[in-house]
Amino acid sequence: MQLDMSSPTTTERVFNFSAGPAVLPEMVLEQIRDELLCLPGVGSSVMEISHRSQAFVEILDDARRRIIDLHQIPDDHEVLFVQGGATLQNTMIPANLLVDQNQTADCIITGTWGKKNSQDIQYYGSLNIAWDGAETNYTQVPTNSELNLTEGAAYCHYTSNETIHGVQFPEPPEVGEAPLVVDQSSDFLSEPLDIKRFGMIYACAQKNCGIAGVTTLIIRRELLERAGDRLPRYLDYAQHVKGASMLNTPPTFAIYVTGLVCNWIQNTVGGLEEMHRLNQEKANLLYNLIDNSGGFFLGHAQPSSRSLMNVVFRLESQELDSKFVTEAAALGMTGLKGHRSVGGIRASIYNAMPLSGVQALHDFMRDFAQRNG
Ligand SMILES: Cc1ncc(COP(=O)(O)O)c(C=O)c1O
Repeated sequence: MQLDMSSPTTTERVFNFSAGPAVLPEMVLEQIRDELLCLPGVGSSVMEISHRSQAFVEILDDARRRIIDLHQIPDDHEVLFVQGGATLQNTMIPANLLVDQNQTADCIITGTWGKKNSQDIQYYGSLNIAWDGAETNYTQVPTNSELNLTEGAAYCHYTSNETIHGVQFPEPPEVGEAPLVVDQSSDFLSEPLDIKRFGMIYACAQKNCGIAGVTTLIIRRELLERAGDRLPRYLDYAQHVKGASMLNTPPTFAIYVTGLVCNWIQNTVGGLEEMHRLNQEKANLLYNLIDNSGGFFLGHAQPSSRSLMNVVFRLESQELDSKFVTEAAALGMTGLKGHRSVGGIRASIYNAMPLSGVQALHDFMRDFAQRNG
């Protein structure tokens, strides 16, 4: 599609319910705008300076420290910024954590992203699917007693929030001794977490923590030694630690934005507990309306597995779904069409979606149900 830059386009910001890349805090966008031509004290934009310059090294370190502070990350974990999206982690995790082909990785599959993560394990060792919710098209997370875990597994992977199905673990699963590895791409920094419980956490930035291009890893230091010297440098976590997240030119602008978003969570929102409270308040508004709609809105996830980030539901027919999306867009609420594998509607209400946006969607839903019920 060719964009005709000469024709007028909308200049009003909409409420953007896109699943990702997603809405950013307006304050962060304003700061980016203000600093775009000239980063204070630097005289250039962040996009124009060397990644080895003191100014950028400080920006990277500031972003890293903010993540450490927000999550009170203990000393035995490293925080890294890497490229390749969350998708490259589907390869890097088994490459680094499976010592040889005789080892097994356990995977708990609660949606599309967990399934994708399990697909590269075969190149490095054995895969055990500890649980898979495919039969019901991923409407819930398992209980601990339903998990079919491997004795001595090299690690156990799960996806804390399945972005497409709107299914989220209310608590991390109990998996015994195996290091717990979690894809937090769509709920990173949305609530406090006890980092000690995790071998590794990873999250691409473009949903809750910035823009596309950077992926944050939090990894327990002892796991860095597993790969030894059998991996190509760029796939080896230990090399990324040695290179201080700069084995090659890092995505400087994306790291800068991550730092600004963390600053916003710390100093405007007031930390992760308050972030979580706000996220619960927003999600409850929509789920209560769904539950009280007399079946007009049908939620995808079971109530106990509902996501605070992606609210997935459908109406009685595809025609009504389309009408809903079209009318919402005309009122300035965009990105609501569900993923093709689930259909219906998906309202992504990440950290940066303001309560006023969710309230506007809630009011529209109530009105739409009255007119079409
Ligand atoms: C939970 C989850 N994992 C992984 C990914 C893939 O991320 P990326 O496109 O950065 O590789 C996504 C992206 O939508 C996601 O939501």
